[in-house]
Amino acid sequence: MPPSPALDPHVLVLFGARGDLAKRKLLPGLFRLAQVGLMPEEFRIIGSGRHAPDGEFTGEVRKALEEHAKDDLTDEAWKAFAERLSFVVSSADDGADLAKAVQDARKELGEESRTLLYLSVPPSAMKPMVGMLAETGLSTDRARIVMEKPFGSDLESAKALNAALHEHVEEDAIFRIDHFLGKEAAQDILALRFANGLFEPIWNREHVAAVQIDIPEELGLEGRGSFYEETGAFRDMVVTHLSQILGFVAMEAPESLDAGHLRDAKTAVFADVQPFQPGDAGDGQFAGYREEDGVDPDSTVETFVALKVAVDNDRWRGVPFLLRTGKAMAETRRVVTITLKRPEADIFDGSHRPNELTFELLDDPHIAVDLLVKVPGPTSEVTRAPLTLDVERVLNEHGLEAYERLFHDIMLGDHLLFTRADEVERLWACATPLLEDPPKPLTYDKGSWGPEAAAKLAEPIGWRLPEDA
Ligand code: BG6
Repeated sequence: MPPSPALDPHVLVLFGARGDLAKRKLLPGLFRLAQVGLMPEEFRIIGSGRHAPDGEFTGEVRKALEEHAKDDLTDEAWKAFAERLSFVVSSADDGADLAKAVQDARKELGEESRTLLYLSVPPSAMKPMVGMLAETGLSTDRARIVMEKPFGSDLESAKALNAALHEHVEEDAIFRIDHFLGKEAAQDILALRFANGLFEPIWNREHVAAVQIDIPEELGLEGRGSFYEETGAFRDMVVTHLSQILGFVAMEAPESLDAGHLRDAKTAVFADVQPFQPGDAGDGQFAGYREEDGVDPDSTVETFVALKVAVDNDRWRGVPFLLRTGKAMAETRRVVTITLKRPEADIFDGSHRPNELTFELLDDPHIAVDLLVKVPGPTSEVTRAPLTLDVERVLNEHGLEAYERLFHDIMLGDHLLFTRADEVERLWACATPLLEDPPKPLTYDKGSWGPEAAAKLAEPIGWRLPEDA
């Protein structure tokens, strides 16, 4: 497809270009955008990191695309992509060569060109990198900085990182990524709530018994031992993805779909989210974690978290928000379940599960409302019958994967699906009691549903998947 005329020419710099995220998502995502005509006419991709590849960087990228790209890697498509790729070594201490390479590329692309600086580096490396970008002048003059999550590792470091950024860069040029917000299905939560008259009237404590945000993963560490030792499941997933989804589910209607209004609405609901209490959390560590590469043999880092969160406002007071995620679990799911209260006049057999609305946050989004219908025949029994909406099939042949959508938004300068300094800091403030007094992680078997004690947190409703009886 022809390139997008709406986008300025871009020099994209990927820090951490040889890392797992770049290989699985960022490079394949950029390749796909080029295939569907959503890259600028002129762009260059400069991979960067502390160590140059042994062979050609293009060879590494080719392999990553062979494994992870969704589109056909035709010779023509590969050639067009590969000739825009290069690699320059840089570190927080030395960005001179990179600055020169970016300058040269921008000269080639013209005055209108922009720099996109994507920091896919561990939280502890972010602040020194921001310093280097300022010193070398890389972050000025039509540059945008993209910060991977987690943004900081606690309230203090997040504030320091925001301050370091704001010293050199306008908030308008900062894109804090939480790729769950780029998932089609996450945005479906907003569409379902605010584009329809059907659900919003029941979206409150009068009608909702519980909200469950459940992201178990079969995946283990996948070679990310040292990253994981620094973050753990709580920082990696809960303060970030799960909390952001909670924001979409719990927020009041934003004034408009403008980035400012949407982020105001999220910030407002995060102000009502109560600090996470150690008594409402259960941590786990899968058996064998301590033997993984890059992991301390005495590590107490959690690979599983279950957490009950309270949102203290008129809409949600008393409704538990149940959050669960973990590595090496029985299944990979991304499910948001809104459990409704039973009808007051329950004249049918009241032993069934109450109505549930579920969102499966997959690339192929899936929404279902679980209803009770009468069993045909001479009986008054009811049975569960899901009403499903297969959004991908109905609406969207050309859906974008989360990182693809977000890259495109960054190049357009649209902040709608990115997090703002104040909301991130508020979430770290909520996390503080738990970071200061974390529950001891209980061991769980690989392929299980986590420590048994975590099940108690979700009582009386329990952790439930849509297909459970
Ligand atoms: C990442 C986490 O941000 O999200 C990973 O660092 C996790 O640990 C991943 O596996 C899940 O994302 P997705 O897009 O596969 O749902």
